[in-house]
Amino acid sequence: MSTAYFKGDFMPLEAVRVSPLDRGYLLGDGVYEVVPVYGGRMFCTDAHLDRLERSLGAIAMKSPLSRSAWVDMLDTLIARNGGGEQSLYFQVTRGEAPRNHAFPQAPRPLVFAMSKPGHRRAYPEPMPAVTRNDNRWGRCDIKAIALLPNVLLRQEAVSAGAGEAILLRDGLVTEGAASNVFVVADGVLMTPPKSSKILAGITRDVTLELASAAGIPCEECDISEAALRSADEIWVTSSTMEITPVSRLDGRPLIGGAPGPLWQQVFERFLAFKSDFAKALGETIA
Ligand code: PDD
Repeated sequence: MSTAYFKGDFMPLEAVRVSPLDRGYLLGDGVYEVVPVYGGRMFCTDAHLDRLERSLGAIAMKSPLSRSAWVDMLDTLIARNGGGEQSLYFQVTRGEAPRNHAFPQAPRPLVFAMSKPGHRRAYPEPMPAVTRNDNRWGRCDIKAIALLPNVLLRQEAVSAGAGEAILLRDGLVTEGAASNVFVVADGVLMTPPKSSKILAGITRDVTLELASAAGIPCEECDISEAALRSADEIWVTSSTMEITPVSRLDGRPLIGGAPGPLWQQVFERFLAFKSDFAKALGETIA
């Protein structure tokens, strides 16, 4: 049984009881984070907590916990769930209040956190993807718990036998239903620039850093549908998928094969980065 954190206490996940009046439950009024844990330690802690604060600020909320209280709580949760490889999920909702679209006068933010054991394969399998129209709202930079469009888009991908939906808005790639997108063409690694149309992925930043360090030319630029379809390689990145190569797009195999040579280069660096990070913290990756 896994341990969760709810209303200031640690408890078995099954013991968590959410009020039906919680604004997260009724209105999707809240924000969240997903953080991978390697060797018992959170990966890129500050980047995730910075993004949580940005998401909270964007919905006119203040963080209910200080930075050190977040770290202490999450470290305790990891330890209570046995360390090793995990995937942390935590969210802040605007709390319980009589149902009304407008904010309550005195909101009582609610923090919930849980952990899933992570069973990542050393090397992710190349995964088929499909393209879909990005029909989400205009603030995709906020990591909002209201995910119905993403849920429907991912399900369309799964129903089509794929692992991810790559989204197109006005003829340009935005991101995946729950990931960022990278494209390789003529030896250049490209990804759409940060804007309100995409979530600023932490894995996206790590990927860009590692690729630059490997001497691969990187560009944060618009990617047209035609450029996506003629790409040598396509990757999707997220805290749960890490850096996963796409094998087929809308049923057609990628030109450069999958996994492609640039993915191999960057993924080797990603593996080394993960294990150096855990070593630097005095633990080894299980
Ligand atoms: N989602 N874009 C969207 C829409 C996402 O939902 C995610 C991650 C990302 C990648 O962000 P990061 O690299 O920081 O995980 C991009 C998480 C994993 C989820 O909802 O479960």
